[in-house]
Amino acid sequence: MTGWRDIPKVELHVHLEGAAPPDFIRTLATEKGITLDGVFDGQGAYLWEDFAHFLRTYEAACQVLQTPDDFRRLVEAVLAKSAGDGVVYTELFLAPDLCGDGSAAAWADYLAAMTEGAEAAEAAHGITARFIPTAIRHFGPERATTAARRTADTVGKYVTGFGMGGEERFGHLSDYAPAYAIAAEAGLGLTVHAGEICGAESVAAALDHLPVSRIGHGVRAVEDPGLVRRLARDGIVLETNPGSNIALGVFPDWPSHPVSRLRDAGVAVTISTDDPPYFHTDLPTEYARLAATFGWTAADFTAINRTAIDAAFCDPDTRAAVIARLAPEDS
Ligand code: ADE
Ligand code: ZN
Repeated sequence: MTGWRDIPKVELHVHLEGAAPPDFIRTLATEKGITLDGVFDGQGAYLWEDFAHFLRTYEAACQVLQTPDDFRRLVEAVLAKSAGDGVVYTELFLAPDLCGDGSAAAWADYLAAMTEGAEAAEAAHGITARFIPTAIRHFGPERATTAARRTADTVGKYVTGFGMGGEERFGHLSDYAPAYAIAAEAGLGLTVHAGEICGAESVAAALDHLPVSRIGHGVRAVEDPGLVRRLARDGIVLETNPGSNIALGVFPDWPSHPVSRLRDAGVAVTISTDDPPYFHTDLPTEYARLAATFGWTAADFTAINRTAIDAAFCDPDTRAAVIARLAPEDS
């Protein structure tokens, strides 16, 4: 897999808390004297059996993230790993609901610490990060609206987008339109998880009810040819995470994953890892599997990374600087 490590990469969909290495979580648990029951298997990896169980394990592991400094350390650890994998620009989903007591004051403190972590990682490893504060769908529309307010109030160099993950089977996306309206009003880039656990209708609902330019996953859109044409026509960008989908059993194996078919149908697809240690993956591993399964070449990945940076929630100068790193000879 080392060959794919060197290619400069753009990652648009990685959850900060979900990227925490198990050892990082264990270290914090030991430091704080917290016992984590049922979070790890006998080999020390995260333990989960299906999507609902994955979300429960994820939230249980997050109990050890208690202070701004815990989040600063996590940002630094995650970005160091990404930079080592060849990522030059990344967007981190992070949940204001998991930051202290959820107050505006707590959010300001946690965000300042995470910003410090991102600045340190950029200085040490040359990786540029932006943050996408993310509502947790199964916490309900009211908390999503609060998360959107926190995000809107802190829009700036680092906070550039707003998203929502969590249990896709909870509620209806139209319930979250007020949260997205606040984020849209603040000029944030918008994305939402859909078409991962639920079918094509969930992707259509996202486009019908939320002003998003990107969809997290979205891959089950493949079930509806008309919707695939709509995605292609409207230039909606899919943040696909094939290894995550296969680990969670959304598709049985790599050859049946629709990312290549969607791309062939003209849909803008990008490649990310979602929650890499939970799914035993990283970005070079994803590239290697895609190359082996679909015959994708370095030129295909460069094109996909160009799609990603074009869809990134960043300012024009940052975009231009990243494009120069993707294809130095073209700049
Ligand atoms: N939160 C973290 N990872 C997620 C995923 N794959 N789907 C929905 N919510 C998530
Ligand atoms: Zn995700």
